[in-house]
Amino acid sequence: MKTANNQLLVIFGASGDLTGRKLLPSLYELHVRGLLPERFSILGAARTEYSDDEYRAFEKVHIRESLKNREVDEAELDSFLRRVFYLAFDSTRSAEYRRLKDRIRLLQQELQLPDRIIYYLATPPAMYELIPACLKENGMNVAGSKDGWRRVIVEKPFGTSLESAERLNKHLIHIFDEKEIYRIDHYLGKETVQNILVLRFSNGIFEPLWNRNYIDSIEISASETLGVENRGKYYDGAGALRDMIQNHLIQLMAFTAMESPSVFEPEPIRDEIVKVFRALRPYKTHDMDNLIVRGQYEGYREEKNVAPDSTTETYVAMKMFIDNWRWSDVPFYIFTGKKLSEKSSEIVVNFKSTPHQLFAGQCSGGSCNKLIIRIQPNESITLKFGLKMPGAGFTVKQVGMDFRYDSLSKNYLPDAYERLLLDAMLGDSTLYARSDALEASWRLIDPILHHWKEEGAKNLFFYTPGEDGPLEKAKLGMIPKECSCQSCQ
Ligand code: BG6
Repeated sequence: MKTANNQLLVIFGASGDLTGRKLLPSLYELHVRGLLPERFSILGAARTEYSDDEYRAFEKVHIRESLKNREVDEAELDSFLRRVFYLAFDSTRSAEYRRLKDRIRLLQQELQLPDRIIYYLATPPAMYELIPACLKENGMNVAGSKDGWRRVIVEKPFGTSLESAERLNKHLIHIFDEKEIYRIDHYLGKETVQNILVLRFSNGIFEPLWNRNYIDSIEISASETLGVENRGKYYDGAGALRDMIQNHLIQLMAFTAMESPSVFEPEPIRDEIVKVFRALRPYKTHDMDNLIVRGQYEGYREEKNVAPDSTTETYVAMKMFIDNWRWSDVPFYIFTGKKLSEKSSEIVVNFKSTPHQLFAGQCSGGSCNKLIIRIQPNESITLKFGLKMPGAGFTVKQVGMDFRYDSLSKNYLPDAYERLLLDAMLGDSTLYARSDALEASWRLIDPILHHWKEEGAKNLFFYTPGEDGPLEKAKLGMIPKECSCQSCQ
């Protein structure tokens, strides 16, 4: 594992949920694993008044909570918290940035930190333009020395439409260099997602089958049991299409469908991702209702900060196509929803069946030879195939060959944010979204959003919490999850 150079991380939105739930716990884990540089400090900035010590005490509770049942090493925790500082400041006022600049300068002097700074925008999206603009106005977007650098990490949602994403990109590129901008998508930080690349490109056995000749369809899903909880305000304006599909699930699709880059380096990998996005077949308005099903869980409109007549979708299933040589006419079924029966994210590759059935009970219809990549929970990879039942005759039974990540035993599975934060510190943007990829994904999503806006509540299907989403999804022709062939019973 590489260790990053000494640097300072400035977190805007430091008293918020993301910082307490994800960022500081992940940084703590990196600290414990010895992956932080020797001279690395964190300066939290937010409106709430805290002294450094008060802020440390406030975040200590969150870090402890995030460790759940694991034992906390108090000495380690305190030594991590000594890296943390805080400045109460109003990020909407440009004049305040002088105070921030002074505080940074002081920390750099006192702690002998070099002129290398990452700014993390863990704020509401409304601030993604203003904060960088204020940094620029105060000369804080460029390094003051030859070895120095500035980087900025932007949380999702990156825009709410093609137009706003393009505007934000343009704005940021005017302030930072593209290579200094890190657009985070936490799905790409998941070990199991990165492993898709290793599974595909380090094994010779999959590549010959990985195309339209042998693959019937691919399903990519992220189901959740929770509802919108206390995020109604954000979610009601976003919906599942923007919240999950435009970013996480489309990225999973790209990892599944992309060609191998010639070298494992950020730009060649990101080039291949963009090629997939550009080959996505755009939806025609008259086809949308046949190829996309949207739903809302019953009771959603009664959630806090949700409009009583909201038409926001909490479930989306869509049939997509990638118009290129490898994938022509192979349906990709992408679906996600809240308040479903289980929490799971997975990729299921359904292979075509044999051209002719020889054995009793043999599956047909591309339903039983599957490669299941389980992203979470119970991270695993399973290959399903038919075998002979012991005894007389030749009756087929479907069996599964399983690999479970926990069989790698002591190897700790890091949280997505640990990996992504460390990559940004190292200057590795492979697992961050590039502006052209983002814009290409919005190009697919935008017409759907317009269509739904015009349709209002028409074709919005309600579903019972705890079940599997609206029944209307059946019209997409997805292979049923539970195979009904004799050998699978
Ligand atoms: C976030 C979405 O990006 O991802 C949430 O905003 C969603 O609505 C979450 O719950 C799911 O992430 P994970 O890692 O739990 O699958």
